[in-house]
Amino acid sequence: MAQIIDGKAAAAKILEKVTRAAEELKAGGITPGLAVVIVGEDPASQVYVASKSKRATECGFHSVQHSLPESTTEQELVTLVEALNRDPSINGILVQLPLPQHIDSERIIHTIAPEKDVDGFHILNVGLLGAGAVSKALVPCTPAGAMLLIEGVRGKDLSGLSAVVIGRSNIVGKPMANLLMAANATVTIAHSRTADLAAVCRGADILVAAVGRPEMVKGDWIKPGAVVIDVGINRIPAPEKGEGKTRLVGDVAYAEAEKAAGAITPVPGGVGPMTIAMLMANTLTAACRAAGRQPPVL
Ligand code: GUN
Repeated sequence: MAQIIDGKAAAAKILEKVTRAAEELKAGGITPGLAVVIVGEDPASQVYVASKSKRATECGFHSVQHSLPESTTEQELVTLVEALNRDPSINGILVQLPLPQHIDSERIIHTIAPEKDVDGFHILNVGLLGAGAVSKALVPCTPAGAMLLIEGVRGKDLSGLSAVVIGRSNIVGKPMANLLMAANATVTIAHSRTADLAAVCRGADILVAAVGRPEMVKGDWIKPGAVVIDVGINRIPAPEKGEGKTRLVGDVAYAEAEKAAGAITPVPGGVGPMTIAMLMANTLTAACRAAGRQPPVL
């Protein structure tokens, strides 16, 4: 039986540390500030953004939310981001994606000051992470959270271990691979064009699935004892729960994989809760750096 990696508990621990560190900063007259910006009325994005703002308040941060109408122009959004860049009470800026079609997301991401880019999407932060300068970068929240879960099982040094990341996205796959490499793992990035994906996965001591395809990774793809990190969150029909009902599953066929794995993240309750916790951690890191202080180790 695999160890079930409890992402909810791990996230709660990080949030506790972040809250405590924020209290210390505040005692020195510095309050970490997070600005979350949303354009349009997409209900799912509204829910995500509200929970980010709420969590920031719970951590004791100065929390600001800008909700802009769908009709907002690219220039208006650039002007807002530039104002937030100049605002000394704001340490972190998050512009919720996707943006409406008429706005160039790349331009907006690169308008955010790199030192306030708590998503870690700015090319400067991408470059720092790619160059192995993890302690100088702001690292994307989901892979940063996944990495902490892996460390919790295997420790900080992954020397001699083989890691396979399925998925090559800029948001998860590529930064995940860079983090694993920085921790001395031997890393393979696999994707939809990889030949014999199952065989590649069977060589993995650490397997990270970030493809967005429900239950694609089968039980017999798992090396016995492997650490399996499932980043996927897929909603699928669940007629067994009643007509029109749905349920969440990951990219890994959990019931099968759990029999072979040494440790595995469930969906929900694995990587998911870590993402918001790491957003708070990144905001704290940005605030510490702005104040010339050393960010706490999480
Ligand atoms: N939309 C869905 N996930 C994210 C995220 O991590 N950051 C931003 N900015 N938008 C998102």
